Amino acid sequence: MDFRELTRDEVTSIWKIDRAEVVRGIYHLEGGGLVLKSEFFDAKGWPPGEEDQYGPVLLDCFDRGGTFHAAFDGDKLAATAVLESRFIGSRQDQLQLVFMHVDKKYRGTGLGGSLFKQAVQTARRKGARQLYISATPSENTIDFYRHLGCVVATEIDKELFKLEPEDIHLEYRLNQRLILIRRMLCG
Ligand SMILES: CC(C)(COP(=O)(O)OP(=O)(O)OC[C@H]1O[C@@H](n2cnc3c(N)ncnc32)[C@H](O)[C@@H]1OP(=O)(O)O)[C@@H](O)C(=O)NCCC(=O)NCCS
Repeated sequence: MDFRELTRDEVTSIWKIDRAEVVRGIYHLEGGGLVLKSEFFDAKGWPPGEEDQYGPVLLDCFDRGGTFHAAFDGDKLAATAVLESRFIGSRQDQLQLVFMHVDKKYRGTGLGGSLFKQAVQTARRKGARQLYISATPSENTIDFYRHLGCVVATEIDKELFKLEPEDIHLEYRLNQRLILIRRMLCG
């Protein structure tokens, strides 16, 4: 597997990632806590209209300086994790993990975790204190993020919540000590 960043021309290949997934549970946020409810659906691929709606959003993100971490199996894009460049949050210290998908064929092989770590390193390098994730509420997705150390966001981004009210909004706190040391060394 080769890890590198996508070029602008490669952004459209994201839609060739096999998004199929059988979902058996959905998380809901109730009283500040996550509650898992049984729900079944067999998603065969990207929801209709997804590429038309989010293709331009991803290109805008790229043009602003977003980082498109990716894993390739030969020529085949196996997974991607996209980090925004624009800071959000009341302290302007959060970067959004905009997009994270692993092709069905490659799930459970460590790609999602590796790309998440790469996005964390990039966010740290850019001086962020937190990642913000508006995550699909399906059981596997939320369990994956929680396993990596993400928690329910203490401050909900109103704009992102308006776009995806059913998502579970999560945050991942970056290592504060490293940020302090870096600021001391680099001014
Ligand atoms: C969710 C998703 C990104 C996970 O990627 P992945 O490549 O399958 O995950 P990895 O194999 O890298 O797993 C990384 C770690 O998370 C853990 N993990 C993965 N899925 C998990 C789950 N459902 N529950 C608990 N832990 C999980 C793994 O055990 C591994 O732990 P380790 O590093 O301690 O060994 C991937 O399954 C996916 O793309 N799903 C469909 C699309 C999606 O949900 N995208 C997110 C939209 S917000």
